[in-house]
Amino acid sequence: MAEKKIVVANWKMNPVRGTEARKIFSLTKQHAGKTRGVQTVVCPPFVFLSELAGKVSGHRCVVGAQDAFWESEGAYTGLVSAAQVADTGAAYVILGHSERRAAGETSKDVARKVKAALDRGLVPIVCVGESERDDAGRYLSFVETELKESLAGIARSALKNLVIAYEPIWAIGEYAVRSATPHEFENMLLFIRKILVDAFGKKLAFSVPILYGGSVDDGNAADFLGVPGSGGLLVGRASLSPKIFSAILDTASKIDG
Ligand code: PGA
Repeated sequence: MAEKKIVVANWKMNPVRGTEARKIFSLTKQHAGKTRGVQTVVCPPFVFLSELAGKVSGHRCVVGAQDAFWESEGAYTGLVSAAQVADTGAAYVILGHSERRAAGETSKDVARKVKAALDRGLVPIVCVGESERDDAGRYLSFVETELKESLAGIARSALKNLVIAYEPIWAIGEYAVRSATPHEFENMLLFIRKILVDAFGKKLAFSVPILYGGSVDDGNAADFLGVPGSGGLLVGRASLSPKIFSAILDTASKIDG
């Protein structure tokens, strides 16, 4: 049987108002709750996290954070810890998103966050991806280093609670050049899987879902979900429209068979 697909809604810094957040969440949850074979994870901004986590019922639609700091508590103005995120009832946390990395986060920082998240029982969704492609293939060694450094020091037993998202930076957001092609995702998925196999062995490496993210919408979701071994999707803009996001969830459900 095919593995359950994971579809993550990364709301980023949207929406402005709580009323709108509640509305989007309620419509998303309603649909996700009926969608078989798909794990939906909604990642709202921190200000809405507790409230929306409190609305979770059942296991098909859960919530996650978009970042989490490694220290549990203390004098860290403006930060939110993995311990605090876990306390809201959130189950997942996006770590190492390119928009956090662009703000100065290093892969070493990501590794500390991954460890803290795992210690608190959160499932980290670790993002990797190159800013541009070159004919010499330097982007491959970039992704390899980013991945290895972001996972440095994690226990082998943690692999079953880990998700990786391949998000090429050039394919993300409103300034995206284009989405990647399914073929580009497939190659990168195999490349990432090989790195995991070399580091952790075949069995553990194959337990890690590898998602695609970057300009996913209802028109191209099937292509990325259909890539052999695809673990699912990380969806930005399209996740703010319950209608489009629901169509993506339906696609994921059908691909699961
Ligand atoms: P996008 O964002 O779907 O709006 O391109 C994806 C992401 O950054 O996670």
